[in-house]
Amino acid sequence: MQIINTVSDLRALIKAWRRSGESIAFVPTMGNLHAGHIDLVNKAKICADRVVVSIFVNPTQFGEGEDFLTYPRTEQADQSQLEVVGVDALFLPAVEDIYSPNAATSITVNGLSERYCGAFRPGHFSGVATVVCKLFNIVQPDKALFGLKDFQQLTVIKSMVQDLNIPVEIISVDTVREASGLALSSRNGYLTDLEKQLAPELYKVLCAAKAAILQGELNITEIEQQAIKKLEFYGFKPDYLSICRSQDLSPATSKDIELVVLVAAKLGKTRLIDNLCFSKVI
Ligand code: PAF
Repeated sequence: MQIINTVSDLRALIKAWRRSGESIAFVPTMGNLHAGHIDLVNKAKICADRVVVSIFVNPTQFGEGEDFLTYPRTEQADQSQLEVVGVDALFLPAVEDIYSPNAATSITVNGLSERYCGAFRPGHFSGVATVVCKLFNIVQPDKALFGLKDFQQLTVIKSMVQDLNIPVEIISVDTVREASGLALSSRNGYLTDLEKQLAPELYKVLCAAKAAILQGELNITEIEQQAIKKLEFYGFKPDYLSICRSQDLSPATSKDIELVVLVAAKLGKTRLIDNLCFSKVI
């Protein structure tokens, strides 16, 4: 695995691969890799000749008072894992390589970026869209892989790619969960032992909301409110729990078929997000 720190070195390597006709799959990450990331890498290996992974804790997607400074940075362990799975290149840029001090351009996917997590983390999705667009311009991959765990992020990125005619195929990959149902996340490491026991309730509540819809409950607001009450009972402080159309994340009506239940809730100091995507047609 080649470890590359600068944009110019990565461009040179990619140029050489392109010259020999090789295709490229890209997995952008913020590091602290877990089985969910490794699954993305393994899927990337199947769909292209070369795999590039980036590790970059992107400052512009963290708001004031969020965990940018304390976000887990585990570079050595990450490198070893990527080496074992057989990544071709690991891109580890410094903040100055990605953002010049006088940068004046950013990308916002309007509307979508202000709802759900965007309402609680103003500017977050602009930071994500901007860095992903920049990484796409640097790597110029054929395909890029993202986890369904960050469903709103994935929807924002798909919209950006479509709106800006970016020639990258976005591949979404299922969420990897612990046996308890808890979705793997780098932020799970912040949970105390007690919180770790309670955290799987988040997924159970999503499953119960899905079951209510499939059993014919038509009152979406009622299902959302019941779910929020259950979360509060287990000690979560929910930011939102919303049943949406999976296509565009607009609020679902009882007539919609392709749905996603999105949730974000704090458990102690840790903000957890999860979702469950399903069809009413079986
Ligand atoms: O999902 C993440 O890890 C980040 O939001 C991403 C896509 C790497 C952009 O910084």
